[in-house]
Amino acid sequence: MFRIKKVPENVLSVIKLVRSMSVTVPKEPEKPSVKTSVPGPKSLQLLSELNSIQQAQSVQLFGDYDNCTGNYFVDADGNQFLDVFTQISSSPLGYNHPALLAAYANSHALKSLINRSALLVFPPADWPEKLKKILLAKAPHCMTNVYTMMCGACSLENAYKCAFFWYRAKQRGSKLDFTPEELNTCMVNQPPGSPDLAVMSFWGAFHGRAFGALSTTRSKWIHKIDCPAFDWPVAPFPRYQYPLHENQLYNRQEDQRCLEEVSKILDTRLRCCRPVAAIVVEPIQSEGGDNEASPEFFQCLQQICKQMGVALIIDEVQTGCGPTGKMWGHEHFNLPSPPDLVTFSKKMLTGGFFTTSEFKPAQGYRIFNTWSGDPGKLILLDEVFRAIEHEKLLTTVQQAGKVLKNGLHELEKEFSTAIMRVRGRGTFLAFCSPTAKVRDKINNDLRKNGVLGGICGEKSIRLRPALIFKERHANIYLDILRKVLKNL
Ligand SMILES: Cc1ncc(COP(=O)(O)O)c(C=O)c1O
Repeated sequence: MFRIKKVPENVLSVIKLVRSMSVTVPKEPEKPSVKTSVPGPKSLQLLSELNSIQQAQSVQLFGDYDNCTGNYFVDADGNQFLDVFTQISSSPLGYNHPALLAAYANSHALKSLINRSALLVFPPADWPEKLKKILLAKAPHCMTNVYTMMCGACSLENAYKCAFFWYRAKQRGSKLDFTPEELNTCMVNQPPGSPDLAVMSFWGAFHGRAFGALSTTRSKWIHKIDCPAFDWPVAPFPRYQYPLHENQLYNRQEDQRCLEEVSKILDTRLRCCRPVAAIVVEPIQSEGGDNEASPEFFQCLQQICKQMGVALIIDEVQTGCGPTGKMWGHEHFNLPSPPDLVTFSKKMLTGGFFTTSEFKPAQGYRIFNTWSGDPGKLILLDEVFRAIEHEKLLTTVQQAGKVLKNGLHELEKEFSTAIMRVRGRGTFLAFCSPTAKVRDKINNDLRKNGVLGGICGEKSIRLRPALIFKERHANIYLDILRKVLKNL
């Protein structure tokens, strides 16, 4: 089953509990095993059934979640895949982790699930303590306020709103005094009540598909086409040359080029129309192609934001909770002061955002929806954080990441026409192929050989394993990738 190096005091009770629930967690396989074509007959039949009741073209495989275990995804046809994509990067501890199974094996947890509360109206009595002990204990430095949300996009939407409230309060010099004109005009979507303000994002960014978030998403047209969008500005994000250490001058100039454009846009918008209230940025652009930028880029970006009175929102929906080898991706940047808002979801199991107290709205119901998160998810997240500590999972990520990245560099040398631009931090890694067609073939061949991977950008493959992905899993991945590249 799972190897836990240092036995924490609660581990025996966890094992007892899982046994008493008569839940069997299969042992993690030694290696992938594919017995059918992929997708297999069962997946194909289920796909046709699903497609008759919804648009299901995005579905790749159906899961047998009872039998998934650790780093292995088992599909409806009984194939066992090493999962290097983990539900679009959203599974922190892999499948059926005993501590997560045990977390729901008590009446308090079950009742939290069943009696789901409207958290911003009738929160459970232990909610403030839970927010402090679980979420705020892992918050980025100096972030003292937190809101839970339902998903990534919803977290971004509400972070943007918080930034607009803060910006308008600064303009009017008070958080409280709305004019009658503002109160009336907001009801007909006109300024000054609905002010002409903007959130600036970067080319290649992905911040979700809800309307505000979608206006800042700039990765692929399929996400945006036919939807009305805010006329908000977009700046270039650095596109580095690789390997980084051989292209330092070019990449520094690239940082400079993008930052100059950021300053220009902020300045023009401030003078002409629709000033920028916030800039949103991912520590590593994910969906848009795993594009990274240097710590210096982020430090200068923050400085520009401060000079221009613009909020800096770091979108950690995909980078948060450990995959880069640090709890938060932006910890790699040594920012002189904390960002203003940090959004999270995916591996955090609940959506939400952290912020400094300066951004707390003066009135209730301004950051709000019915559920505003899910207390049941915090019960699981508590166990995730405990496993990160006890199983030293950030170290695991760093070690496995090193093996993976070194191995990818080796393959890049050996198969230089098929893979290139190896990049990333921790196990949050990616590489490019010369074309989308070659990239898709590699990804499909990996799947046929028992590895579930993900793609991003125009021609990249991204790796997003769980935090329990170890060096031995990295070696299995590299062996299979090597075989695929050899037979390409
Ligand atoms: C960086 C980033 N922000 C926001 C989102 C949106 O999250 P969700 O799909 O949960 O709405 C994603 C999803 O992939 C993401 O990667």
